[in-house]
Amino acid sequence: MREKIILALDFPDAATALDFVRPLEQDLRWVKVGMELFYKEGASIVHQLKDRGFKVFLDLKLHDIPNTVEKATQSLLQLPMDMLNFHVAGGSEMLQQAAKHRPEHILFIGVTQLTSTSEEMMQKDLGISTSMEETVLRYSQIAMDSGMQGVVCSPKDLRLVKERLPKCISVCPGIRRKQDATNDQKRIMTPAEAVQAKADFLVIGRSITKAEDPSQALDEIVQEMENVQS
Ligand code: C5P
Repeated sequence: MREKIILALDFPDAATALDFVRPLEQDLRWVKVGMELFYKEGASIVHQLKDRGFKVFLDLKLHDIPNTVEKATQSLLQLPMDMLNFHVAGGSEMLQQAAKHRPEHILFIGVTQLTSTSEEMMQKDLGISTSMEETVLRYSQIAMDSGMQGVVCSPKDLRLVKERLPKCISVCPGIRRKQDATNDQKRIMTPAEAVQAKADFLVIGRSITKAEDPSQALDEIVQEMENVQS
């Protein structure tokens, strides 16, 4: 179950992030570098995490005109990463242009709807009139038809995706233990519920990074996930 967890390293700089992961090196396989850390540290943080043996998900959610995203993807592919993502809202042409350059060992993942987006906000602000579940399914279909290997979505929206697109790898943020604060996430599930919903990867940030004892929080989460299986 540990290999399903992707720890979100939402830290302001490399020193803080590397200090944080040092005690977890033996217990954790995947880490996620997002905009905050990457914009500050650039390529070097990806190399440093790779050198420490982690698999790296570079969560930059690329979204621009197809030509710009294609060139940005080619630049990023110089880095030793294992997963990269793109906003499906950028459209199929944008995704296809990026997918042309994907090396076999790197997963390209499409972002459907952010887990901080409620159905009401999506309909009101983004002007999408279908339900969240149908929207996530449609975006997932576009992602898979455009050369992505999977999608980022809330585990709450996985049912139809798993039913209709069995090959689609699901990467699920919005994970909270019962005792954790929700923060800005709107559509959340516990680690056990996410495993039950058949999430392939669980992206977990503050439930571990803000815990009093992060190692213990990680172990408890793994335990909770394993209890579902047995
Ligand atoms: O701290 P928390 O567990 O909420 O962190 C979730 C992480 O997953 C953040 O780094 C956030 O940027 C990312 N993410 C998300 N929802 C998405 C895609 C990525 O929360 N749809």
